[in-house]
Amino acid sequence: MVVHYNPLTKEPYLQLPAPCANIIITPQREHQIEETSAVMTEVLNDSRVYSWLQGPPYPFLPEHGVDWIKMKIAEHKDVVSTLQKEFETSDSQQGDGSNDQENQEKPGFFDKSPFVCIREVTERDPATGVPLQDIWIGDFTLARYAFYELPPDSSERALAQKQNDDLPTGHKDIIWCIGCMGIPSEAQAQLLTIMLTDYLSPTQHGRGVMSVAVRTVIRDWAIPRMNLHLLRGSFYAENMGSRRVMEKNNFEDICTLKDWAPVSPNKGGGKKSIVVMEWKGL
Ligand SMILES: CC(C)(COP(=O)(O)OP(=O)(O)OC[C@H]1O[C@@H](n2cnc3c(N)ncnc32)[C@H](O)[C@@H]1OP(=O)(O)O)[C@@H](O)C(=O)NCCC(=O)NCCS
Repeated sequence: MVVHYNPLTKEPYLQLPAPCANIIITPQREHQIEETSAVMTEVLNDSRVYSWLQGPPYPFLPEHGVDWIKMKIAEHKDVVSTLQKEFETSDSQQGDGSNDQENQEKPGFFDKSPFVCIREVTERDPATGVPLQDIWIGDFTLARYAFYELPPDSSERALAQKQNDDLPTGHKDIIWCIGCMGIPSEAQAQLLTIMLTDYLSPTQHGRGVMSVAVRTVIRDWAIPRMNLHLLRGSFYAENMGSRRVMEKNNFEDICTLKDWAPVSPNKGGGKKSIVVMEWKGL
């Protein structure tokens, strides 16, 4: 159960295990906003990605990326600075930059996962293994669940979202969501929060990255630091990649809803069937 820490950049990060040991998951970076937005824009305008996502605008513009990244930086500022303080003041900091939380005084729970940028490490410090260079390859969002199985725009769905959103930080009954397709609760429904989703650059598809990323975020962050107990995932019914990622992480089907989720006219319009799956534990 470790969050890693890069003492050179003061950045906390999650490290994926083998066979994806070249992959880390980090917060968004203030000094790479334009750079990350440029790659994100390329990826989110690729049909191998956008056609599976309900939320992000299409065409996706660099300014959408900039706004999204700035929003994430602001949202995660407090969590990141708390983690930085934990590491900077920790007596038990280890030589490899990892922080054994079992030896720490138990901190309070967090309400967010700041680990949103999936990155491929291209250079490490040979002595410490600390990442020196990396490239952004995808996004990962863990959010409060938006009850996709209830009718879109219904008062039933709005009430379920509100009750879930109102539960206090660390409450074991909060239902969380990965692979959310978009549109979160009414309260959050500004343009850019509809980007809550998970995706990888097409150059990285099919290498096992997302399967291991999901496991790592759940095990190394969401359970120990957010007290996650309940988790669902949702995706278009034909999305076999998403289905397999969830099956490999012990999710089981709750329901399939035929012709359920509205598709933006820019992406062909109409309605798509969706699947909702529930996590059954590690
Ligand atoms: C869906 C996605 C996140 C999966 O990530 P990934 O890292 O490529 O998935 P993995 O490599 O971990 O593969 C997991 C399994 O899915 C299978 N898989 C991956 N992509 C697939 C595809 N397009 N069609 C069929 N199976 C696929 C893999 O073969 C693997 O199964 P296996 O272990 O039985 O061989 C990624 O393909 C992606 O970004 N797709 C576009 C955006 C998207 O769909 N996001 C999810 C929205 S809910």
